[in-house]
Amino acid sequence: MRPIDIIEMPNLDEARIRNKPVETFHYDYVPNDKLLAYLKGKNYFIRTYGCQANIRDGEYLSGLLESVGMHRVESEKEADLAIINTCAVRENAEEKVYGQIGDFKKLKEKNKDIILILCGCMVEQNHIIDQVSKTFPYVDIFFGTHNIKDLMMLLEKYISNHHRIIYVSSKEGEIVEELPSCRSEKFKAFVNISYGCDKFCTYCIVPYTRGKERSRDINDILKECKDLVNKGYQEITLLGQNVDSYGKDLNNGVTFATLLESVAKLGIPRLRFLTSYPSDFKDEVIDVISRYPNIMKYIHLPIQAGNDTVLKQMGRRYSSGEYLALVKRIKDKIPNIALSTDIIVGFPNETYEQFLDTIKVAKEVGYLSAFTFIYSPRVGTPAARIKDNVPYLEKVKRFKELVKELEIGFDEKAQEMVGKTYSVLVESISKKDETMLTGYTESLKTVNFKGDISLIGKIVNVKILENHLYSLLGELVNE
Ligand code: 5AD
Ligand code: SF4
Repeated sequence: MRPIDIIEMPNLDEARIRNKPVETFHYDYVPNDKLLAYLKGKNYFIRTYGCQANIRDGEYLSGLLESVGMHRVESEKEADLAIINTCAVRENAEEKVYGQIGDFKKLKEKNKDIILILCGCMVEQNHIIDQVSKTFPYVDIFFGTHNIKDLMMLLEKYISNHHRIIYVSSKEGEIVEELPSCRSEKFKAFVNISYGCDKFCTYCIVPYTRGKERSRDINDILKECKDLVNKGYQEITLLGQNVDSYGKDLNNGVTFATLLESVAKLGIPRLRFLTSYPSDFKDEVIDVISRYPNIMKYIHLPIQAGNDTVLKQMGRRYSSGEYLALVKRIKDKIPNIALSTDIIVGFPNETYEQFLDTIKVAKEVGYLSAFTFIYSPRVGTPAARIKDNVPYLEKVKRFKELVKELEIGFDEKAQEMVGKTYSVLVESISKKDETMLTGYTESLKTVNFKGDISLIGKIVNVKILENHLYSLLGELVNE
């Protein structure tokens, strides 16, 4: 057994605490010459699971590795260093990661010098780190979401004695500016506006894995966005677990509405934001969206459930009536708004009647799309302690029923788009048909159409010809 140096172990109880003020640091770590010589010219592989916040973390990890002369490879077989950046939001996200770590074993057998790293939300959970550090002895370094900035220090330590290392802090969290980053896309970008979450919905692990809600200074955000505009980016998505509470912790009067308007004024062609929390969503934000053509007329507004008792048990701080009233205010001001949502089916002890309320409310809203999930108990969260009387198979049955009902609405909305022309941001060649391009509308609807590859990264007009439910077929409109 190799020695294992534990710098810090995660602790879900500590991760719950919220009482320290947030500190902002400027990244200025200079790796030592030995590490620079060791890594220069070598290859790294990174696989990221989960949400946009994780994708952005992956871009920071890439930035750190490329800043010391490493090159990214798309196959772990060519890598000298391989990272799995994990997600913990549901059990199936964790299962995918286990499969990937299993593959790491073969890499180490072939190349004993390869450095294998597991990081991200999954390792922030004590029971997981206890288990994976034992079950996967060939993983060299484990670090948490708060320790991204420590990557170079960890690699210096590792190459000095080849001891395994665990460094997973469960702190409230700080803000680190000026971390190098290497964006994975050339024309669309994610920009963090805040980190962490203080909502503590009873089913959710995020407030534990990502710490306290903390807002970046507006000037740092605007600087990052301005730089993207100057580089010719077409789309920015402002990211926060709850964008609507942006600025609350800054106490300087800056709100999400102010921030959104300031970013819109920079002239990025497409601006969007994720994720909104219904009872924090302010009418000023509706007003800003309505006034700026470059703010996409699309809002992702998770409802989670349509029954008030379930919402209360979930710790969501709104009723279905309040949610519907907000939707009405949005639609009154922005009639062409597209709405999407997140829904959890099978929360502990959810009755069939309560479940039907979710379908009822969802139909009333008329979503263009939705992300639907079967409730997954997360160790350490309050909901996971509830004794649940709903069998798993019943949850699967409800899930299928929900999807079927929602798809009727998605189909109607998509059908309404046929014959109309939409602006489409062209992403790539279609994966299914090499002769087609694929892109997406303001409302994130996928559109496939024929066109020259020089259009990739541009915004073009496409007339919709056919509705295929989750995608649309269109033709380029030549201006
Ligand atoms: N089980 C199922 N879905 C969950 N989500 C968060 N936690 C859980 C859980 N324990 C869903 C919520 C959230 C989305 C990102 O993931 O719907 O909005
Ligand atoms: Fe999780 Fe709720 Fe925070 Fe969203 S608002 S990240 S669901 S705790």
